[in-house]
Amino acid sequence: MPMPATTKADLWRALEAHRAQIAARHPRELVEDDPGRFERYALEAAGLLLDTSKQLVTDETLDLLVRLARASGLESRRDLLFEGGIVNETEGRAALHTALRNRSGRPVLVDGRDVMPDVEAVLEKMRTFSVSVRDGTWRGFTGERIRDVVNIGIGGSDLGPAMAAAALDARRGSDLRAHYVSNLDAVQIERVLRDLDPERTLFLVASKTFSTQETLANARTARRWLLDTFEDEAAVARHFVAVSTNRERVVEFGIDPENMFEFWDWVGGRYSLWSAIGLSLAVVYGMGAFDALLEGAHAMDEHFRTAPLASNLPVRLGMLGVWNTNFLGVATHAVLPYDEALRLLPAHLQQLEMESNGKRVTRTGDAIDVATCPVVWGGPGSNGQHAFYQLLHQGTALVSVDLILAVRSQARWADHQDAVLANALAQGEALMRGRTLEEARAELIEEGLSPAEAGRLAPHKVVPGGRPTTTIVYDELSPRILGALVALYEHKVFVESVIWGDNPFDQWGVELGKLLAGRILGEIRGGEPADHDPATAALIERVRRIRAGD
Ligand code: F6P
Repeated sequence: MPMPATTKADLWRALEAHRAQIAARHPRELVEDDPGRFERYALEAAGLLLDTSKQLVTDETLDLLVRLARASGLESRRDLLFEGGIVNETEGRAALHTALRNRSGRPVLVDGRDVMPDVEAVLEKMRTFSVSVRDGTWRGFTGERIRDVVNIGIGGSDLGPAMAAAALDARRGSDLRAHYVSNLDAVQIERVLRDLDPERTLFLVASKTFSTQETLANARTARRWLLDTFEDEAAVARHFVAVSTNRERVVEFGIDPENMFEFWDWVGGRYSLWSAIGLSLAVVYGMGAFDALLEGAHAMDEHFRTAPLASNLPVRLGMLGVWNTNFLGVATHAVLPYDEALRLLPAHLQQLEMESNGKRVTRTGDAIDVATCPVVWGGPGSNGQHAFYQLLHQGTALVSVDLILAVRSQARWADHQDAVLANALAQGEALMRGRTLEEARAELIEEGLSPAEAGRLAPHKVVPGGRPTTTIVYDELSPRILGALVALYEHKVFVESVIWGDNPFDQWGVELGKLLAGRILGEIRGGEPADHDPATAALIERVRRIRAGD
């Protein structure tokens, strides 16, 4: 008998051999010949049911994947993450988003110092501030109550809170309204400000570095808009607060440090929803909702930290991501929430997954010789069914899918929900089972077509099936469920990064474009031409001529 594989390389080879074995079977057989599959393949934690029974795996696949996770050092890496070790090697930092939602009472040490008192102090400051805006103690410059809260930020300083605001909006218990401005194109800020009253508007400038071009440009425009009305710099203090790690730059911008909510360099931008970057949520939806969001995330953290690898939701999700990417050749992954409140979740996960694992070198700078993060995209289920699902069912790309569904709706007209559920479940079945040529032909004949007509149309109606699908189910969306769901994906990304060997907490790839944009800006404004490739140089010249009216 051969020795069981134990090293990462052995297990990788074992998975390749295993893949070749199961490839001989139609994927739907894996599911249809295995009646107890749901019970074995569905996991539960923190209010979420993770059904992986429609993934193209067997018990042996899952066993090999767990062993691969272990052989890759997942457990020690996970401990390092929670303990505040340097898991972001290229920037020499910890990645402690879990400390922001740590409800266990355990200290979390960074460089030997417990960061929990700082975390709690900022939460307390958020609590006091959000209450004062909500109860009207905090007033605008002319004594009016605040009605509109505009978060100005981009990337992680926008996508997380904007996504969570959309998710929580059905529970908004006040007249306060949240708005999110991120785009450098002034059309967006103009659209948002058009309907707002400066006397009743509060701007939250959210930027970890406070040096992001898009955010500072929008913040300056917002200040000009405000001062157009008040013509008094003193108004800024009543209408602007900052959320940042960079006090100096906040002061330089003209925001009183008293009005600054701090966070720390050990919080990555796309993991910052749980920090004061979530201030707009606390103000508009209440600190109770924000606390519940943190609690849900903490419940998932505790599960990830302590549950055995085989029954651990983030481990299962992450290892299936590895299986689909590296062994089944999936290069694109769709996130399809059947819950309108989660309409912005795909955009948030797109940043989370692609900015974290869209990498080509390991933590030590060596080339990664396997595929890493797929393209992540998606949109609300119902709408997608009448748009891009055609490709999911019959296109030539193998797309893996996460279906996310609420059993109960947050809406008053709850009778829609039966149909929502029926559609979500039907899509899961269709993506897995598909429709064979024989089935298509038989259905057409049953509809009254002649055998010749049925034969002509049947190939068009064939649906291959076998699309790897995970279904995530919860009762009704709440801040707690949302927290657990987002934390589930954060840890999924971490698990994948351990297998691929990349650093999921840096983002060097976005730097080059920023550098070149700085250079080109001077040229757009009439400066001397800089050194460019001829194609770009010609395009810059053409843009300059169009602007000059030539
Ligand atoms: O350019 C990428 C990025 O650094 C993201 O990682 C980050 O979420 C975003 O920009 C915004 O950065 P900041 O919060 O510093 O303005």
